[in-house]
Amino acid sequence: MQRNFSKTHVLLAAAFFVSLGLLYSYFRDSFSPISFCQPCIQPDNDFNELEKEMEQIKGIKHSEHCKKDSWKIGELLMQSGLKYAQPSTQTGRTDINAVTNWNAPLVWEGTFDPVVIDAIYKKMDPRVAVVVFAVGKYTRFLKAFIETGEKFFLVGFNVTYYIHTDRENEVPKVALGKGRKITTVPVPSANRWQDVVLGRMKWATLTIEKTIRNEADYLFMMDIDSVFYSRFGAESLSRLSAVLHRGYYKNTPREKFPYERRPESKAYIPAEEGDYYYTAAVWGGYLGDMYKLVKYCYEMSEEDTKNKIEAVWQEESHLNKYLLYNKPTKVLSPEYLWSDYDKVPADIKVVRISQLVKNYAEVRPNGGN
Ligand SMILES: *[C@@H]1O[C@H](CO)[C@@H](O)[C@H](O)[C@H]1NC(C)=O
Repeated sequence: MQRNFSKTHVLLAAAFFVSLGLLYSYFRDSFSPISFCQPCIQPDNDFNELEKEMEQIKGIKHSEHCKKDSWKIGELLMQSGLKYAQPSTQTGRTDINAVTNWNAPLVWEGTFDPVVIDAIYKKMDPRVAVVVFAVGKYTRFLKAFIETGEKFFLVGFNVTYYIHTDRENEVPKVALGKGRKITTVPVPSANRWQDVVLGRMKWATLTIEKTIRNEADYLFMMDIDSVFYSRFGAESLSRLSAVLHRGYYKNTPREKFPYERRPESKAYIPAEEGDYYYTAAVWGGYLGDMYKLVKYCYEMSEEDTKNKIEAVWQEESHLNKYLLYNKPTKVLSPEYLWSDYDKVPADIKVVRISQLVKNYAEVRPNGGN
């Protein structure tokens, strides 16, 4: 009797808490200042923890630092009266595939109308953060990167360049467009270029937590030794956008991708798996999703270090592992990162940004390739 009694109580209590939970999740969605802030708080528990911490430290409520309550990320609104060519269901490029097998867009010149896509994203008026690292002699690349970025990168959008450097006095003064700025983030020097690369994930994680989280909706990670040659616009924006590595985008069987192949590494991908090989020189997405991914690369490389292994292409290996099991929502063609070294083939109609020919021995602290 006694036992049955307590069983009933336990059941009642359980039912009570379950309905409380249901009520809470129902009302939380209807009360939160709709989805604009979603990228900041969305899928990651760590990020929610961080939110709470920041609330305690700074007294800032999430809803306060998110300025545009009405902004609903992912909603594709367009004004009336816009003039542009009618889209066709029959004609388009036939020399490339414009969709992945998980139905995400594969973005090439000729698969979007810049007028339409800019109009849609201008309505959201997102704040875009660009995280770059210019450590040691790499500061020499800053001027051309920013100057050409001002000409071609998300022109008309609000962009902040977060320049991580150990030589603050070498950050050039460049004339910036309206709504665009430079924030310099001091970082210590490193002795090996591999440490610079892996340190990037750590510093980017910290900068997002400290600064960017209050200042941006989208975030791009980019290599500084590049210049923009042509439009790099709103067609690149999505929850998670990754760029096909120019060296492996055509006719490379997946087992030949330079993924990490040693099972001892966290970046391990078996020979019979893989979609594409993505570059780590340009990647972007919603702030919350990028935070999660950057932190993942940081933590996985820390794990590897503990186990006395370094992934073959450092963060790029971890990035590729993540993107295999967390598919990107847009895949950008190699137009979104070509190289001055390489001949431009016929299917690359536009080189939007390109890595510079550089003398590695001269700019890297320990030489190398
Ligand atoms: C973008 O920049 C302009 C000009 O500085 C400013 O008026 C506007 O509020 C900014 N938009 C956002 C979303 O911060």
